Amino acid sequence: MSRHVVVTGASSGIGAAIARHFARKGDRLSLGARRTERLPEVAPSAFCHQLDVCDAASVERFVAATIAKNGPIDVLVNNAGLARGTEQIATGEGVAWREMIETNVLGLLEVTRRVLPHMIDNGGGHVVVIGSIAGHKAYVGGGVYCGSKRALQPICEAIRMETLGKNVRVTSVDPGMVDTEFSVVRFSGDKERAEKVYAGTRPLVADDVAECVLFAVDRPAHVNLDTIVVMPTDQANPQMVHRTN
Ligand SMILES: NC(=O)c1ccc[n+]([C@@H]2O[C@H](COP(=O)([O-])OP(=O)(O)OC[C@H]3O[C@@H](n4cnc5c(N)ncnc54)[C@H](OP(=O)(O)O)[C@@H]3O)[C@@H](O)[C@H]2O)c1
Repeated sequence: MSRHVVVTGASSGIGAAIARHFARKGDRLSLGARRTERLPEVAPSAFCHQLDVCDAASVERFVAATIAKNGPIDVLVNNAGLARGTEQIATGEGVAWREMIETNVLGLLEVTRRVLPHMIDNGGGHVVVIGSIAGHKAYVGGGVYCGSKRALQPICEAIRMETLGKNVRVTSVDPGMVDTEFSVVRFSGDKERAEKVYAGTRPLVADDVAECVLFAVDRPAHVNLDTIVVMPTDQANPQMVHRTN
């Protein structure tokens, strides 16, 4: 039976790949992002709606519109997220810190808290969180991004406890390096600098992560994959990458 799958941050990278994979399965999709003009190209049959996870009113409108259009939400993929800059703590500044924490932590909470009650009323569902290996291991210049991703771990644990007995699954899919627009965003549009992140190595592609999400969601309802850590073979941790150049 087709599921109603909501993907946040579906205009690019991992979110777009996840949307395409679910679309191929014949699921009913609701996609959100700020750059709405990109969404219909991702999955032409999907319901597309403006979403800024940092704006509570936008989140409210998005969740209401998706339920009105596609019915109760079976799967929520909390993918919207970003890193901004690589400043160390002593030289960093609040604008970038706030943007990361507001998007990656508070934004995810604002979406999830509006979706969970509907899932529970509807007899269950699956909350997928796109975390990161940055949430498992910090690196120089990534303290706040890593902190924002580490914060998702207790949030997932709490949701599992708070929804126990309600048929709600919670899975965190935590990738290493993935070749998306992530680094271009991190370096505020500096493509040359972004390309250096992936130079001489073979990163994951967005489809690799999407396949992990699909695998977790496609398990039988009594099976909850807690955390999937997925890394490029050429990456041992956030700062150890094998390069040929
Ligand atoms: N690429 C990596 O190496 C990597 C590794 C581990 C984890 N991740 C995580 O994977 C997720 C997806 O990143 P990506 O690599 O696919 O990067 P990406 O290509 O830059 O995609 C990020 C997506 O998030 C959306 N987004 C950002 N801020 C938003 C907001 N305020 N409201 C709604 N949507 C927002 C963007 O859409 P709009 O700009 O159109 O709103 C875009 O669709 C993020 O959570 C990231 O932290 C990435």
